[in-house]
Amino acid sequence: MLAAESKVVAPGTNGAPGTDPAQFWKLLANPVEPFLHAVTEQLIRQAQDFDPEIVPYAQHALNGGGKHLRPTLVAMAASCFGPLTEAHVKSAVIIEMVHLATLVHDDVMDEARIRRGTPTIAAKWGNEIAVLFGDCLFAQALKLASSYPTPEVCRAVALATNTVCSGEILQTQQRGHFEAARRDYFRVIDMKTGELFTLSCDLAAFLSGASADHRAALRTYGSVVGTAYQVYDDCVDLFGSESGAGKSLGTDLAKGKLTWPLLLAWERANAKERASLEHSIKNWQPEYFPTVNALLVKYETLSPSVEIISQYLDKARQTLRDLPASSGKEGLLNLTDFLSQQTGVLAVSS
Ligand code: IPE
Ligand code: IPE
Ligand code: MG
Ligand code: MG
Repeated sequence: MLAAESKVVAPGTNGAPGTDPAQFWKLLANPVEPFLHAVTEQLIRQAQDFDPEIVPYAQHALNGGGKHLRPTLVAMAASCFGPLTEAHVKSAVIIEMVHLATLVHDDVMDEARIRRGTPTIAAKWGNEIAVLFGDCLFAQALKLASSYPTPEVCRAVALATNTVCSGEILQTQQRGHFEAARRDYFRVIDMKTGELFTLSCDLAAFLSGASADHRAALRTYGSVVGTAYQVYDDCVDLFGSESGAGKSLGTDLAKGKLTWPLLLAWERANAKERASLEHSIKNWQPEYFPTVNALLVKYETLSPSVEIISQYLDKARQTLRDLPASSGKEGLLNLTDFLSQQTGVLAVSS
């Protein structure tokens, strides 16, 4: 059996929610722990499927931890409809590999040194290896996706991968273009992050034989939670701590990624401040950070960002309204509560 029965109880004393994300995450994922264990084992096995010269990179990427958020979504979404199967495990492995491939490439673009608490592939072996190995990971994911009896899974994975990479391209094109980025921010983050959350829920529902309505509801849930998650992640990049996140932070500013808090500061700034902000982002130097940070604080950009996250999470909860009660639905609702809690922690600690 791939499912275990257990209810999430927020850690902490006297029933108060705890603030250790790792501890809370573990509790949240606990009901689907056997499933996640099977995914981890298969990811490790996948590393052996590469040419011997490539295996060290594959081991570094595939044995490297991470929250396995997308596999968790697969497990919870599938548990809305019945038992978890090997077909679900395989879909989670595929999606996690696509996710990892995008991270390997993203770390090249962002010049990030740390990912999941260890050096990035680019930091350890250089950008050329990282770009090529990221390509290998995409290909490996598609190879696995083609092993289902129906082409529908492979097609869905290919389409979603295309959307994620297109989202990353749009974001790159919009560097320094505040107006365009303001207009397109939510579309772009839905593409680059919401899409794999959507795919996770969608494939889970498809492989469980869910009805068209339930499948559509779960797709919307994935998109909305993924969008909330990226806004949260964008806030972490500006207001969080590297030790807590386990990855390099501050790279969005350094690379001119126009994230929501920054766009809010730009929108609210006076003409002089706007010009200074635009100049700083287009010609980034680390010594500009205090001035940009002062604008982020002056215009109180964190609390409206938190409010947006909260609105998306409310919408996510609503999309589950018509799904029958199940451990999976409970898990998906718990996930929105977990993200609310994490966002709250970020807001009070900044
Ligand atoms: C990181 O995703 C990239 C974003 C979409 C923000 P995760 O936060 O799920 O990273 P891992 O998989 O736990 O390392
Ligand atoms: C998410 O963007 C990357 C992808 C969706 C590929 P970020 O650049 O914000 O992700 P992190 O912060 O490096 O994990
Ligand atoms: Mg990045
Ligand atoms: Mg980020």
